[in-house]
Amino acid sequence: MFEVGFSKDAKLAVRTSSTMDRFVLFQTTDVQAASGEVVENTASHSSQTNDKAVVVQVAATFHVNECVGEPGPPQSVSALLSRDLHQRNAVGHSLGALYNPGPLNRHSPPNNSRQVTEVIRMSRSMEKIVALCKRRGFVFQNSEIYGGQNGFWDYGPLGTELKRNVRNVWYEDMVQSHNELMLPKGAPVKFQMVGLETSIIMHPQVWKCSGHYDLFHDMMVDCRETRSRYRLDQVRVRRVSYEGKAVPGQLSQEGGESLRPGDQKEFDSVLVASTAEEFHDDLTSEALRAFGLKKKYADRLKWDGDATTLDQIAETDFSSVVAPGAKRAGSLTAPREFNLMFKTIIGALGSDDDAAFLRPETAQGIFVNFRNVADSTRVKLPFGVAQIGKSFRNEITPRNFTFRSREFEQMEIEFFCRPDQSREWYAWWRDHRYQWYQNLGISPDRLILRDHEESELAHYSVGTADIEYAFPFLDEGEYGELEGVAHRGDFDLRSHMEGKLGKNADGELEVEQNEHGQPVHRGSGKDLSYFDDQSRERFVPHVIEPSAGADRATLAFICEAYHEDSQPDEHGKPQERTVMKFHPRLAPVKAAVFPLIKKEGMPEKAAEIFGDLKAAGLNCQYDQQGAIGRRYRRQDEIGTPFCITVDGDTASDNTVTLRDRDSLEQVRVPADRIVQEITERLNAGA
Ligand code: GAP
Repeated sequence: MFEVGFSKDAKLAVRTSSTMDRFVLFQTTDVQAASGEVVENTASHSSQTNDKAVVVQVAATFHVNECVGEPGPPQSVSALLSRDLHQRNAVGHSLGALYNPGPLNRHSPPNNSRQVTEVIRMSRSMEKIVALCKRRGFVFQNSEIYGGQNGFWDYGPLGTELKRNVRNVWYEDMVQSHNELMLPKGAPVKFQMVGLETSIIMHPQVWKCSGHYDLFHDMMVDCRETRSRYRLDQVRVRRVSYEGKAVPGQLSQEGGESLRPGDQKEFDSVLVASTAEEFHDDLTSEALRAFGLKKKYADRLKWDGDATTLDQIAETDFSSVVAPGAKRAGSLTAPREFNLMFKTIIGALGSDDDAAFLRPETAQGIFVNFRNVADSTRVKLPFGVAQIGKSFRNEITPRNFTFRSREFEQMEIEFFCRPDQSREWYAWWRDHRYQWYQNLGISPDRLILRDHEESELAHYSVGTADIEYAFPFLDEGEYGELEGVAHRGDFDLRSHMEGKLGKNADGELEVEQNEHGQPVHRGSGKDLSYFDDQSRERFVPHVIEPSAGADRATLAFICEAYHEDSQPDEHGKPQERTVMKFHPRLAPVKAAVFPLIKKEGMPEKAAEIFGDLKAAGLNCQYDQQGAIGRRYRRQDEIGTPFCITVDGDTASDNTVTLRDRDSLEQVRVPADRIVQEITERLNAGA
């Protein structure tokens, strides 16, 4: 029996059991709301107890008898619902009928049937993913036994393998397996790639010339009442009033006339505030709290205008802001700058004058070594220098698990090219990097390439694009940055040569000068230009910078991999399972080996196979505990693509069962071919 319900965010949920606790959320792209019968149903569904989270994968062919809503081209269910919410029940009812399997008819579908291939996305429940990460040893809170350190994370045994694979695959694909003798598809010309590893602490002048010393800050505000600190652009506010009721507070700014900061005032309407990435309902609860109202009065709140962020409102309006969790209006300080670089002192006798910084990006290590790389290798333009390493940013509000941390790892490339080819290279790298994530299993449904608006571009950049992923902690339609691909012109090399650059009145880059006509921050004075011996020209190369975060990529791969479904166990009984569908190249454990039972020579044979796989450099697990179905599920939950079982037939025919995590297909493979078979299967996914 299938029934229909609706989640808070107006997506359709189909109840798949009578216990009211399991929902299947449809985000169909091409299923028309219609009634009919399922003629082919290979649905594997998963469940979730709250409406923020659901996962399903459905493949089904529907025989559509009757369309609901206006006739016309197919439209998505969610579009239909959001367009005409009062039709929910009618649509829902019909979809219930649509999804009701009824008698299965496995013959060829009628003409008006529709094939729905990949329908649904992962769980929207970040809580489940975070719980799995802790339970199975992917990610732990840093210094957890002391209560944790905000903004810092530790990778557990499986997370370490996963993140190492992310880094290795990136380095392999970008550097080691790049063939400079071949023209990559769509690239303007052949090119070379080399690696570099520079130190975390660099000469302080590096950060002065790069702009980080003067410009690398966020605007933040403090709440005097709750003693919390917020990034200005991360606090969402919306004006609200309630039937003449006032909220007490004080002026945080000059109030005109004779009013002074600190003067008490009653506010008839206030700007209620919530941290931006949370759900819309937060503003309502903040408003109810501000006016001291019960939940039942929510409908009588009078909203004025749309929600916006604090950085979009005039400072004079700050007095009427009720900060998140605050009781009174006007508790926010004026916005101020906060430099994100971590400071440290070098040497035992060091003073503040000797302050150095933990690098906030790995990129500068590449720029300052441009000359060394060019002189010590035989690289010719165009060439790229790749580096993986830790970066540190004293983020004001670290949040969303590892997404915004204070210590994180970057995977950056500085690609040096001729200025007249730089636009072509920019476009090529943007597309190349976007494809890389898809090659590793990120669905294009959840990955976007977003070109920056002119107003978002750094002053030296002619183009920047972000590769963004629909992380489950974001609202529907929102994406978080995985990687930026920037055209940086000659800004960095020139800055390190001449001194920190800025734009002059004509929009040209020139060295910024102080009131004495001297550079604000002096460059190295070293020549970082390039002589092209083919064209006999000397110029400062332009730079394309694909800059990715290893932790964000790892988090995206974890979120993408997370699936819940129901699969038959060895007795044919459906069992709920959580399965991490990691791409085989990324999977922390490549294969698991089981003896079916702990006797009749099976453990010995399984141990031999395990040893062979280990000797071939494959990270594997050996498991002889519990029922075989349970062992499979343990491996599914950590994303092991292949399981090998030594059973009763192995002794007679020397074959083992090889089970595929995703297709669940089981085949017999000669035991002495198993290393080769696993290696081939892993490479097939490469
Ligand atoms: N060199 C250019 C640069 O650093 P960015 O956009 O500031 O550019 C590049 O950072 C990537 O580094 C981001 O796309 C993201 O993946 C990662 N990243 C930046 N800040 C981060 C943070 N606080 N936590 C985790 N990853 C971060």
